[in-house]
Amino acid sequence: MADEAVGISAVFDAVVAQADTPMWVVTVAAGDQRAGCLVGFATQVSIEPRVFLACLSKANRTYEIARHATHLAVHLLGTTALPLAELFGSETGSEIDKFDHCEWEEGPHLLPILTGATGWFTGRITRTDDFGDHVGFLLSPTAAHLRKRPPAPLRYHAVASLTPGHAAD
Ligand SMILES: Cc1cc2nc3c(=O)[nH]c(=O)nc-3n(C[C@H](O)[C@H](O)[C@H](O)COP(=O)(O)O)c2cc1C
Repeated sequence: MADEAVGISAVFDAVVAQADTPMWVVTVAAGDQRAGCLVGFATQVSIEPRVFLACLSKANRTYEIARHATHLAVHLLGTTALPLAELFGSETGSEIDKFDHCEWEEGPHLLPILTGATGWFTGRITRTDDFGDHVGFLLSPTAAHLRKRPPAPLRYHAVASLTPGHAAD
């Protein structure tokens, strides 16, 4: 039974990896704190109203700040933004200030907006759900921007070899 479960997990992982999901960076500001991390667990979950689900690992500093926030910013990365993926996926705000190492500006709700992103939206957090090692943040969009002539999205396989700044529990 245990072996079967291990087998199912491995094949489940392979099926999900094959989907090659686009990669996002979620940023947040609360008080004088800023944080952000690379996120693969993210998708739109309703058309009307428009609702987006972004999941943050309980191990991440971004989650710690997001717990006290009212809004998040969600950035879509393009193939030209690999350095942003490396910064936000392999480094942790527990050790460095990621915003000292990239271009950003203050956007709606005082959120840090990454100027190297293909597009972004900000969302009001309407609900959170504990899914296990990740917590889901449901977002209602409040502002959005898409770059002209956007590059192809940066997808999972391009960043799968990165070592996360914080391993999920
Ligand atoms: C391919 C990949 C996908 C990731 N997906 C998520 C995710 O969906 N949610 C999340 O919270 N962290 C995810 N991470 C991990 C964080 O981006 C990483 O641990 C980051 O360094 C945490 O930074 P922080 O401690 O400053 O928040 C992912 C990392 C990689 C390499």
